[in-house]
Amino acid sequence: GETPVPPQLKWSFQGPFGKFDRAQLQRGFKVYREVCASCHGLSYVSFRNLSQPGGPEFSEAQVRALAAEYKIQDGPNEAGDMFERPGRAADRFPSPFPNENAAAAANGGKAPPDLSLMPKARTYERGFPWFIIDVFRQYSENGADYVTALLNGYEEAPQGFTVPEGGHYNHYYPGHVIAMPKPLSDGQVEYPKNEAGQPQAPETVDQYARDVTAFLTWTAEPHLEARKRLGFQAMLFLLVLSVLLYFTKKKIWARVG
Ligand code: HEM
Repeated sequence: GETPVPPQLKWSFQGPFGKFDRAQLQRGFKVYREVCASCHGLSYVSFRNLSQPGGPEFSEAQVRALAAEYKIQDGPNEAGDMFERPGRAADRFPSPFPNENAAAAANGGKAPPDLSLMPKARTYERGFPWFIIDVFRQYSENGADYVTALLNGYEEAPQGFTVPEGGHYNHYYPGHVIAMPKPLSDGQVEYPKNEAGQPQAPETVDQYARDVTAFLTWTAEPHLEARKRLGFQAMLFLLVLSVLLYFTKKKIWARVG
């Protein structure tokens, strides 16, 4: 049948004053790293981006330590050889597979797509009546709704639906048969503890899905906060300019009529 519309979720980054939730981005990065990174690359993101303003804002020391845990292919050196070295803050995330063919071969013929731009790449426009609401949203928020719904969307195939070999039934994937096996399960990723010794957020599939989606929304749009700030300043400027022009016009035309 038809692919269902993903439920509309609340995101901290939606709306004209939307901002990313730093703690959520940090948790989402942990989910990416411990779960998604074994199959999906993040090739447009450098380690140092993780400490820049408007993102997860890890400290520079944390980022250097993180980068050093990765092995980066480099070279050729003076002898003409390729070599491996520990990562540096300026390096990009290494991909889990050397190329598209290897990635496809390891995943039953379908390569896991790079996740750097994912929620934006899955943006879509909705028909009536959703577009009325969508006027107040960004289309990339629909993409975030979709990615979260997809990660939550694994279920038993309905009676009479045959899932082909190597496929998995997903409620929200177009056509319902996806090559990605259910990646998340409850309790899989340990979250930082608060003062009471409790996890900062529930260690559930739904929370993991929301957190990793928020993180990927940042990787897809690292300047979202700056863009919204500038948009607001532009509106304010236009408002002040309009008032000044109105009184200027009144003064100039005062003697006419
Ligand atoms: C596809 C996200 C973990 C293998 C995808 C897609 C997204 C995604 C958004 C694109 C779906 C679409 O085309 O609409 C994630 C996230 C993960 C994760 C956020 C971690 C929580 C994994 C893991 C594997 C994997 C661990 C490998 C075991 C794949 C494959 C595809 C895919 C093979 C292509 C599916 C197809 O075209 O049928 N993933 N993924 N993913 N993922 Fe993942």
